[in-house]
Amino acid sequence: MNKHYYVTTPIYYVNDIPHIGHAYTTVAADILSRRNRLRGKEVFFLTGTDEHGQKVEKAAKEKGRSPKEHADLMVGNFQGLWKKMEITNDAFIRTTDGPHIKTVQGLLQLLWDKGEIEKREYSGWYCTPDERFWTEKDLIGGNCPDCGRPVDQIREENYFFLMSKYQERLIRHIMENPSYILPETRRNEVLGFLRNNDLGDLCISRPKQRLSWGISLPFDDNFVTYVWFDALVNYFSATRYLAPHADQARHGDFWWPASLHVVGKDILTTHAVYWSTMLMALGMPLPGTIFAHGWWTVEGKKMSKSLGNMVDPRAVIDTYGLDAFRYFMFREVPFGLDGDYSEDALVHRINTDLANDLGNLLSRFLTMAEKYTGGVIGSSDNTAAVAETTDELRQTGSAIASELLSDGYWNELRFHVILERLWEIVRAANNYIAKTEPWKLAKNDPDSVRCILANLWESLRITAVLVYPYMPATAEKIWVQIGLKGLTDEAKSGGVENLARWGWRPSYGVKISKGEQLFPRIERKKAMTGEKTGEASGVAAAEPASEESNLISIQDVMKVALKVGHVISAERVKKSDKLIKMQVDTGELRQIVAGIGKAYTPEDLIGKKIVVVANLQPAKLMGVESQGMLLAATGADGVPIVLTPEKDVEAGAKIK
Ligand code: MSP
Repeated sequence: MNKHYYVTTPIYYVNDIPHIGHAYTTVAADILSRRNRLRGKEVFFLTGTDEHGQKVEKAAKEKGRSPKEHADLMVGNFQGLWKKMEITNDAFIRTTDGPHIKTVQGLLQLLWDKGEIEKREYSGWYCTPDERFWTEKDLIGGNCPDCGRPVDQIREENYFFLMSKYQERLIRHIMENPSYILPETRRNEVLGFLRNNDLGDLCISRPKQRLSWGISLPFDDNFVTYVWFDALVNYFSATRYLAPHADQARHGDFWWPASLHVVGKDILTTHAVYWSTMLMALGMPLPGTIFAHGWWTVEGKKMSKSLGNMVDPRAVIDTYGLDAFRYFMFREVPFGLDGDYSEDALVHRINTDLANDLGNLLSRFLTMAEKYTGGVIGSSDNTAAVAETTDELRQTGSAIASELLSDGYWNELRFHVILERLWEIVRAANNYIAKTEPWKLAKNDPDSVRCILANLWESLRITAVLVYPYMPATAEKIWVQIGLKGLTDEAKSGGVENLARWGWRPSYGVKISKGEQLFPRIERKKAMTGEKTGEASGVAAAEPASEESNLISIQDVMKVALKVGHVISAERVKKSDKLIKMQVDTGELRQIVAGIGKAYTPEDLIGKKIVVVANLQPAKLMGVESQGMLLAATGADGVPIVLTPEKDVEAGAKIK
């Protein structure tokens, strides 16, 4: 096992006011850092700000400040937010830091000396807000293909990094390293782009008369460095002066290459193509993985200053709590896909997964433990009366714990799958209470009650360990309430695998200490409910009547043949972001097309047992035949949730 783990976020434009998009990437890196530290790895987690370039120069001018003064004021927005969000970054880099500037200049000089940079006259279309040149054929309707704004034609001398040389090598690298770019769909996009286009050379300078706020080229003082070249180097320069051990020369390469760069999909090309080829030209190793996540919209709309719909993470945290927000972002949407933020969806998650499932489990356990055993937790040896039900719970708990402690899902950053699986333990424990009904046994079979409580304790402890990276404060609260001392300290001394092992006991006696409720249910604010009830009452009056008149007979129900299907393979339907085509075993193999592609990836579906309407007339969806229909519930905001049988059952089983 590699003992080091180096993870980065993009460095954020210092001009921006942080919103949930920035928080998303940063929390992702935080989750990964916490997980790796818990497993005993030495972690370097880097974030920071991107401070050079035209936008900062312009904004500073408007405010009557120097660019550096402006950056010094703005950087606090990010640093303050990360503090509030309990982000555990080990360093914060600013591209105006002296040692970073030196590193950028050192690398530029190296490339210049190696003949990897050339001076050329250049004419091209320049998008000032994006600070990017485009070729004639890139333009869409004469405008910037990225932001749609008008572009200016510019002719000037500039320095070019000979990026085109590395096209074939980059393709090979991506082919040979399947996890270099993730998720796979993005990897395929980059490969497609590289195979079908000629990679140009990269203009890496700006004449000072046009832009002076940047790092001077070491070999020509009339130019500053292109802001992306400067920014990308941050990942390396931080290892030289901000990382642990950076002061010791022999550790100069201790942290390089980075294990993972987490970025948004909009900046994948700069990372996958510019950064990779820059490193190749420098003769430096490439990072382990570049992962591109999707974008958040807000109630279906793109977040933008002009729409005034930017969601401020501080406000969300103040209203709903930090851990609930962290959980929501990583449970609601598969990492890699786009997601939609709404308060309704957030409240729904809090009330269901957090209050109902997890919070309830803990409080029921604590109440019963206080009542039946005076809060003392003994060994989890089974009594005959509960042996069978306990076995099921133990098997679920142990199997899921070892699955989630291992690297599988983690290597692919399948955050939502990890939470989904973890919640199977929570639900299994709630079911266990329902099945064993300890309150009925309390009088005549106290041994079984003691055993039930000990098993619930196991489930809660394992849940706390596994949920820690996502909701650290919640995990510690559970830990302490179930009578343990400190999760991270105990993981450090005893090893996380141990803590999550069914049957583990600390060296001290365990006595629970009931504390505050983890996640009180959220009733929507009075004013909002008022409005909603007002609106809804009209609907409510109308609905029962219409439902009644639509009642169907049992004969009608019997006409529908529902079957359990096993998804053997799945892939997206071309040119559709919604449709997924699956081969499903329902006793016979059939093809089913379903509009669930925004909520599920094909990989999520493979291996799932689903519910299929088996006697539906075949129909074509975007030209692809569907022989049946999959059933899904409508979650918050209309997000489909695929129905699956509660226990494993054979493909083709009838549903009545
Ligand atoms: N400064 C560059 C990055 C340089 S890294 C060497 C930059 N900064 S940014 O502040 O504009 O964006 C930072 C990150 O925020 C990007 O990864 C971007 O994808 C992410 N997001 C911005 N808006 C977003 C959403 N609406 N949703 C999710 N993430 C989004 O680009």
